[in-house]
Amino acid sequence: MNVLVIGNGGREHALCYGIKQSPNCSNLYCMPGSDSISEIASSIITDVDDHDAILQFCLENKIDLVVIGPELPLTQGLSNLLMNNAILVFGPDQMGAELEKSKKFTKDICKKLHIATAAYDVFDNYDDAFIFCQNQSYPLVIKADGLAAGKGVIICQTMEDAKDALIKCFKDNSFGDAGSVVVIEEFLVGEEVSLFSLVDKNGFVLPLTTAQDHKKILEGEKGLNTGGMGAYTPVPSISSNKMNELSKTFVEPIVQHLAEQGIKYQGMFYAGLILTDKGPNLLEINVRFGDPETQAIIPLLETDLLELLHASAIGTLNEIKKIKWKNDYAMTVVMAAHGYPEDYKKLTPINNLENLTLTTDDYLFHAGTMLKENKWLSNGGRVLNISNTGKDLKTIRETIHNIINQINWDEGYYRKDIGWRYIDE
Ligand code: AMP
Ligand code: GLY
Repeated sequence: MNVLVIGNGGREHALCYGIKQSPNCSNLYCMPGSDSISEIASSIITDVDDHDAILQFCLENKIDLVVIGPELPLTQGLSNLLMNNAILVFGPDQMGAELEKSKKFTKDICKKLHIATAAYDVFDNYDDAFIFCQNQSYPLVIKADGLAAGKGVIICQTMEDAKDALIKCFKDNSFGDAGSVVVIEEFLVGEEVSLFSLVDKNGFVLPLTTAQDHKKILEGEKGLNTGGMGAYTPVPSISSNKMNELSKTFVEPIVQHLAEQGIKYQGMFYAGLILTDKGPNLLEINVRFGDPETQAIIPLLETDLLELLHASAIGTLNEIKKIKWKNDYAMTVVMAAHGYPEDYKKLTPINNLENLTLTTDDYLFHAGTMLKENKWLSNGGRVLNISNTGKDLKTIRETIHNIINQINWDEGYYRKDIGWRYIDE
């Protein structure tokens, strides 16, 4: 099979790595890819907003499957264009991608289907939202309805915070169109779990695994929200029976409901759940693989990744009896540039990457690097992902830290407490 992966981050590096392991993978391309991805796939430097150019490339290179990494091309309808031209795609169409693009869209479905989620109200103007916030108890959560690169959720401790959040959305236009509608919801307390399920074009749902991300920049879950500073999989407290039960409660009804509305959801269904003392609740849905969760999941996967992605696209996931894993657990730790998620330096030298001693359980995925005169430079906020698989999270984390200690990058920062919930310090 000739495969094209869309994207250029750590998630796509891991996806390319996984796909490349398949005996059924002939030619592997990544668009736009990166210098590090070029070591395993042909990077095709192009403007990924130019969907016609992507289609042309697929036709000329006889691409059998396109795997779309990030949410943006999905919400822009790249799948629709490719599928209309008889190209198989891993990822939902534009209507399916509304689950991630609009929090209101997802919350309204939850309400209709009686799926547990925080109580909420929706506003499209400052005045009504402000009056509503005056009569609420705090904390309260204010969310820009649309895509805001992970920054659109504001936890408000006081009415003053709520006012600031509403000013950001409605007056300062900080989130652009994404903030012209806000969802205001009840603050829930509990452990967060990400549930990853594959969905095929016939609506068959195959729960894949669970993971836990660490969104805050600082240890102890403090500081600003980031795209994710590290993750492990599976979540020790969620048995596979429990995972299947969660998928039946939170994933299957939504996929079925969409089908009844004429929306054939396919691809990855990433349900962000929070386990409250009254039971699990849905926080959000993403319509793609998680980043950095994927950099832990793929090293652990023994079943052929390409087979799974292809089965989603052609509608044969029901034939996959059991997903096999290489080891018990996996973790990935993100190395970010100092200052991220605010201002940080770019193009700083990262030394010694070529000389790391890596075993077959160790993985290095590049999230934001580039090569200049044969030297690796940082080229983004989240820069490297170091992953390891093993029998227990503590040893896995120690191994990852040992690898990080070999990396000579002055600007590098990482959280040392990834996995704290399940590691005795
Ligand atoms: P979301 O993008 O909706 O998942 O929100 C990002 C993060 O904000 C989540 O991972 C939670 O940590 C937090 N969050 C979102 N909604 C709530 C809520 N209703 N109660 C508590 N925390 C929330
Ligand atoms: N790691 C969070 C996300 O992919 O949205």
